[in-house]
Amino acid sequence: MNIKGKVAVVTGAAGGIGRAVALELAKRQIGSLALVDKTEVVHELSAEVNQLMGSSVATGYTGDVTEETFRTWVYQDLHEKHGIVNICVPAAGITRDSLAVKVDKQNDSIIIYPTKTFRLVTEVNLIAPIYWALEMVAGIADYRRKHGLKRWEAKEELMGTIVFIGSVSSQGNKGQLSYSATKAGLEGAASTMMAEAIFHGVRCGIIHPGFTDTPMVRALGEDYIEQQIIPQTQLRRLIQPEEIADAICFMVSNSAVSGSLWADAGWRPAA
Ligand SMILES: NC(=O)c1ccc[n+]([C@@H]2O[C@H](COP(=O)([O-])OP(=O)(O)OC[C@H]3O[C@@H](n4cnc5c(N)ncnc54)[C@H](O)[C@@H]3O)[C@@H](O)[C@H]2O)c1
Repeated sequence: MNIKGKVAVVTGAAGGIGRAVALELAKRQIGSLALVDKTEVVHELSAEVNQLMGSSVATGYTGDVTEETFRTWVYQDLHEKHGIVNICVPAAGITRDSLAVKVDKQNDSIIIYPTKTFRLVTEVNLIAPIYWALEMVAGIADYRRKHGLKRWEAKEELMGTIVFIGSVSSQGNKGQLSYSATKAGLEGAASTMMAEAIFHGVRCGIIHPGFTDTPMVRALGEDYIEQQIIPQTQLRRLIQPEEIADAICFMVSNSAVSGSLWADAGWRPAA
């Protein structure tokens, strides 16, 4: 699908990967860009994108991606101003890492990973990205219905692309019970949407990045990165957010690509 002139939604746009995706879409002459994040930084980013493009292409939307009313409002605003949304990259995500069951030596007790934390991570990393994607598909389905279009046909232009952000941790990673589970869950959602959404002319894929140089990974600390991450990659370095953004735009623009893309810097963790 040609990115030029299309309408895109990127969540987590104030973060490392979301920001890089926004700038890469701008370079590829996206028509309109919704930059969504819970922080106000998205407004600075949208100003930066607009300066880069020399026109008001980007709009920042500040809110919580898990809020249904916020999501529907953003899409309603986009539909009114720009028509249907064609590209959805729901990149907002969080980690709440801790061992699944750990021994608390101080209190001489056993601690189970809190269900409340698990639910929070599930809301942000699994349910929210799926529903931001479904909202895009629903907008396209509604457009097709209003225009008397039924099942999408090959002679038509593709109408949309979803790229979910999984992780190498979707295969399991010590200390990342909730994070791994949500990223593995996205794999199932992506496979289902791949099968279903083409009815409406929408493709779906999932990228599994390895450890990427973003605030999320920097929060792990320099020692952890040097000792536990870098030695387990073939490239012996963190991935740059721009490399992930480039891979995401490749997935959007090359319609022959489907399924999962592993952009993992040759991640081979020792057992
Ligand atoms: N950095 C990595 O190594 C890596 C690897 C694999 C996958 N990922 C995934 O890539 C995506 C982006 O990660 P990143 O490394 O850029 O992280 P990041 O922490 O730099 O950015 C995440 C962004 O999401 C936003 N966000 C979090 N919760 C939100 C909410 N409820 N509502 C709105 N915004 C919210 C944050 O404000 C932040 O700007 C995430 O889904 C992450 O799981 C990252």
